[in-house]
Amino acid sequence: MKILLTGGAGFMGSNMIHYLLRTYPDVKIVNFDDLTYAGNLENLADVADDPRCTFVKGNIADAMAVDQVVADVDLVINYAAETHVDRSILEPKAFIDTNVYGVYNVLEAVRKHKTPRYIQISTDEVFGAVLEGESDEGSKFEPRSPYSASKAAGDHLCQAYAITYGVPVIVTHSCNFYGPYQFPEKLIPLFTLNLLEGKTVPVYGDGMQVREWIFTEDHCRAIDLIARKGNLGEVYNIGTGFRVPNLDVTKKLLQLTGRGTDAIEYVKDRPGHDRRYAINSNKLRAELGWEPQVSFEEGLAQTVEWYKRNREWVDRCRTGAYKEYYDKQYGKR
Ligand code: DAU
Repeated sequence: MKILLTGGAGFMGSNMIHYLLRTYPDVKIVNFDDLTYAGNLENLADVADDPRCTFVKGNIADAMAVDQVVADVDLVINYAAETHVDRSILEPKAFIDTNVYGVYNVLEAVRKHKTPRYIQISTDEVFGAVLEGESDEGSKFEPRSPYSASKAAGDHLCQAYAITYGVPVIVTHSCNFYGPYQFPEKLIPLFTLNLLEGKTVPVYGDGMQVREWIFTEDHCRAIDLIARKGNLGEVYNIGTGFRVPNLDVTKKLLQLTGRGTDAIEYVKDRPGHDRRYAINSNKLRAELGWEPQVSFEEGLAQTVEWYKRNREWVDRCRTGAYKEYYDKQYGKR
């Protein structure tokens, strides 16, 4: 089985490459990644010499490059995306290029080369804020940030290509991921590192916004199952049901890093901040037998340990564009 994994040098993509190489001795992987700010081949340094995985530098917004890498694979998993909501508020264009136009390029290539399966990695944010209850696979899209609007557009294209051209695509919507190798712009790695370095943590608004959390390894298992056994043309939600306000996550991080509540700094809220996400993953559990295996306590402790042990990796992430973004987002500190 030859798999094209786009965005394989990013957080989720690199975790998936590790998972696939560990799980399938005969797998062949093409990692197609443009190594933009969040893509880092060091995430794959331990498997750099593994002949089963080859790297091709390229961007999914480049139609010709996409056409070439899709040509002879059995499965495409599209992790390539601009993912950070705050960045989409500052500069939305890259989100349209990658998350909309890039998905169109992948769909066109899959259609042309008759690739047997295409898995689109997407988000629960396309359903907008869910103040009560849960969003299921049939819920209406109500994206409210440039990021979620761009992901919703990509997902709509996938559904349209499945219906119009019979393209064999499956769309997955996941709750918030966390774990090793996550770029330190997201809540968990950003707060962990700030706390380890004696800084304060910038909690947006009142900190009572609710997010649902999944450890990266559980997400990899879900994607693997969906890729092997999911029904083409369908949609699967991926969630753990573990939903907590950001302030609770922050307090757990204070405990794990030995800091006190004086490290919490309430800052201006994110514009259009979605108050709550809650995703119903009954279909994935009932049809494909998936269950999350890592509790939030366990996953969070592992994650904090990983960031403690990988400070050089962190320092390399924080070069160039990161500092510019950090100062713009949080003000000079
Ligand atoms: O729900 C899935 C989505 O989760 C993914 O599709 C996105 O790609 C991913 O970025 C993530 O989006 P969020 O906006 O939920 O993640 P983020 O880590 O940016 O923020 C998590 C929560 O923490 C959110 O309510 C905003 C809040 N937050 C975040 C940061 C970075 C803060 O209070 N302060 C911060 O400095």
